[in-house]
Amino acid sequence: MKVLLLGSGGRESAIAWKLAQSPVLEHLYIAPGNAGTSAYGTNLAIKPTDFDAVASAVREHDIDLVIAGNEDPLVAGLREALAVSVPDVLVLGPGADGAALEGSKDFAKDFMGRHNIPTARHLTVTADTVAEGREFLRSLKAPYVLKADGLAAGKGVIIVNTLEEADATLDEMLAGQFGKASAKVVIEEFLSGIECSVFTIGDGKGRYHLLPVAKDYKRAYDADQGPNTGGMGSVTPVPFADDAFMAKVTERIIRPTIDGLISEGIDYRGFIFFGLINCGGDPYVIEYNVRMGDPETESVMTRISSDLLPVAAAAAAGDLADTELTIDPRTAVAVMAVSNGYPGDYTKGHVINGLDKAQGIVFHAGTAVDKDGKVVTAGGRVLATVALADSIPAAAAEAYKVLEGIEFEGKRSRSDIGKDLL
Ligand code: AMP
Ligand code: GLY
Repeated sequence: MKVLLLGSGGRESAIAWKLAQSPVLEHLYIAPGNAGTSAYGTNLAIKPTDFDAVASAVREHDIDLVIAGNEDPLVAGLREALAVSVPDVLVLGPGADGAALEGSKDFAKDFMGRHNIPTARHLTVTADTVAEGREFLRSLKAPYVLKADGLAAGKGVIIVNTLEEADATLDEMLAGQFGKASAKVVIEEFLSGIECSVFTIGDGKGRYHLLPVAKDYKRAYDADQGPNTGGMGSVTPVPFADDAFMAKVTERIIRPTIDGLISEGIDYRGFIFFGLINCGGDPYVIEYNVRMGDPETESVMTRISSDLLPVAAAAAAGDLADTELTIDPRTAVAVMAVSNGYPGDYTKGHVINGLDKAQGIVFHAGTAVDKDGKVVTAGGRVLATVALADSIPAAAAEAYKVLEGIEFEGKRSRSDIGKDLL
C-alpha cells in the first residue's frame, strides 16, 4: 500500500514511524514532513491545504491512502476535494461536516447538546448579542472561559478571573482579535479537574477502536506554570483513566458522539480526539479535535503493538469489522524540547547536535535541513524523545536521558513530565 501522510509536526513523525514498520507498506510519502520524517519515507514539498497539489501527488505516486495529520485541510474540505479529483483514493479523516466538531466550537457545543453529551454550560455570542453575553457572564462564577468559535492555531481560548476582564475580552474577540474565527465567541462555565486525551479511530458505520489514553502537559513551565503551549510532553496510560472512568467515557461520550454523527448523516471516518476533564470522577468534554493530539501521539504510537496501517486503511474504507488494535501495557513518556522563548518569540536555524548518537526514540517536530545538509531548528517545538518502560519514573528517566544527549542553542524542556501522576 502507498500512503501519503499530510503534516509536518511531531505527531506526523510518530505516525510515520509507526506506518514505516508495517509489512503492508510499499512506500510512505510525507507532505511536507520535516528533517526527521525522511527517515521513514519521502518528503514532498506540498502544503496540505493545497488540494490540487495533493491530488497531483496522489496521481503521480499512485497513492492508495491519504492520512490527514492536522485539522486544517479537513476543515477546509480535503475529503470532498479529493472525492472529485481522485475519487479512488482512500482518505482517513472526516469531511468538512464532521471536521466542524473542531472547526466550529459553536457547532461542537450544539452537537453535544443535541446528544446529551456532558460538557460545560455555554452561550454563543455575536456582535449583535453582546448584551446577552454580558448577562450570561454574570450568571457564571469566576474564572470565565471565552473561546473563539473557529480555528485560531490553538490560541483561541482565553480564561480570565474578573468580570471586567471577561467583558473586555468578549469585546476584543468580537472586534476581530482572532479575525473571522472570533466573529462568534463561545462563553463557557469553568470546569475544574484534571484533563486527559482520549482517541478513537472509527469507520463511519459505528465501529471504532480505542487508542491509548494520554495526558498532555500544556503549560510552558514546571508545575503547570506559564503560558499555554501546543504541549510540552505526554504520558500514557493515565492512572486516573481507570476501567470505571473509561466505562463512563464510553457510555456517556464516545458512543453518543459516534452514534450522533451517524444520526446526523455525517460519514465520519478517522480519528476523534476527545479532550476530557475529570470532574470528581465524571468525564466532561472540553473540546473535540478531528485528528490525533500533539504531543500525545508521540507517546501513544509507541504503545500500539499491532500494525496500524490495516486499521487506518479499513477505517478510511468504512469497514473496521475484521481489524484489531493491540496495546502494549507499558508506560510511555514523551518529552518535548522547545526553542527558548516558545510559545512567544524564539530564534530558528540552530544546528542540532547528537541526533546520530541518540539511543532511543526521537521524533522531529520543528526541524529542517539547512543548505549545508545540517539538521537545524525550524520551530518552537523542535523534537520529542520518547521511552517505554514499566513505570512513569522509569520511562521519564529514559526519555530525559536521551534528551540530554541532544543539544541545540536555546534548548529548553519541562523537567516534571509525569510527576503529577505519581
Ligand atoms: P482548548 O483550546 O479548547 O483545548 O482549550 C485550551 C485549554 O483551556 C484546555 O485544555 C483547558 O485546560 C482550558 N479550558 C477550556 N475550556 C475550559 C472550561 N470550560 N473549563 C476549564 N478549563 C477550560
Ligand atoms: N495536545 C493538544 C492538541 O493536540 O490539541
